[in-house]
Amino acid sequence: FDRIFTSSSESGKPSLLRPRKGVIIGVGQVGMACAYSLLIQDCFDELILQDIAEDKVEGEVLDLIHGMSFLPPTDLKGGTLKNEGKDADMVIITAGAAQKPGESRLELVGRNVNIFKSILADVVKYCPNAILLIVSNPVDIMTYATLKLTGFPKARVIGSGTILDTGRFRSLLGKKFNIDPRSVHGYILGEHGDSEFPVWSLANIGGAKLIPGEWEDLPISEQNELNSVFEEVKNAAYQIIKLKGYTSYAIGLAVTDIVKAILRSQERILTVSSLINGLYGVEDICLSLPTVINEKGILKTVNLSLNEQEQAQLLNSAKVLKEVCDQLKF
Ligand code: NAD
Ligand code: LAC
Repeated sequence: FDRIFTSSSESGKPSLLRPRKGVIIGVGQVGMACAYSLLIQDCFDELILQDIAEDKVEGEVLDLIHGMSFLPPTDLKGGTLKNEGKDADMVIITAGAAQKPGESRLELVGRNVNIFKSILADVVKYCPNAILLIVSNPVDIMTYATLKLTGFPKARVIGSGTILDTGRFRSLLGKKFNIDPRSVHGYILGEHGDSEFPVWSLANIGGAKLIPGEWEDLPISEQNELNSVFEEVKNAAYQIIKLKGYTSYAIGLAVTDIVKAILRSQERILTVSSLINGLYGVEDICLSLPTVINEKGILKTVNLSLNEQEQAQLLNSAKVLKEVCDQLKF
């Protein structure tokens, strides 16, 4: 046993592999849902929480540390990129303004780009090799801004994109047909926002396509009802924000899936946002397509055969996002 494990000089803990360090910047509703989910799913060895609200960080860290006897070990602390977070493997950014009831994600852009400018200067300085996972909204624009402001390679700048919407889609379809959502396959692609769209031509349950109705419980006459499922997905954030003020648990779980795909090099296909150049005629914009993720970050984008309508919807999402990026003049 002693021959296999060496003792790391700093912590005195046995270590076979290099410790994995993550930083979450922004410990609001989303940052803390991410932290909780990452801790209970045993993702990082070290997890640092950073926020301009220092008392909040201290309180959150204490609260979570009191639960550590119920969890696999993670060295959790408050800190900054400059000190405790230096040379982190991953930096997850959830800092910034969130939507008020009725507000769209795109309306947050000015405020959040300014906040990102200050955060990213430290990321470049202190974590030059980190993989960045962007969650703040509008997430596709913030991912693009991060690429431009850091100069990091595109493989290492990932937006959570429509992973959440795809999760909502699979969950709601699973509920409708009384099937485990993990056996419901389908994607929401494009912008994480109002122009997103469902890929109905490929959506299936256990291989049986929903359109045209190969799934036994869905006669052709009832296929129009599926659009109401998509409308519910598209409007989910507006509805939840109206009811409870913010969304948090599902994005925390979705972020954890992305982190695990990276740290465990799972080569998982997830609908995250990344820089697209050339596919389907989309040029120089970040949006979501099915993407293979491993320890290096973005490995490749899957080139799906979308039908004509879906291709047009993708180009529309790209146009909506491009208009916003052009105003920002990167
Ligand atoms: P929140 O207001 O609860 O938390 C935001 C936190 O950011 C606050 O604690 C604030 O102090 C902190 N902050 C602000 N400026 C900072 C800076 N310069 N450095 C460090 N911390 C800073 O908001 P929330 O509900 O947690 O939402 C956070 C963001 O995540 C919003 O932009 C929201 O729209 C977005 N969001 C994205 C998804 C997604 O699917 N991508 C889902 C839900 C929310
Ligand atoms: C969501 C956030 C608000 O829950 O983008 O979709």
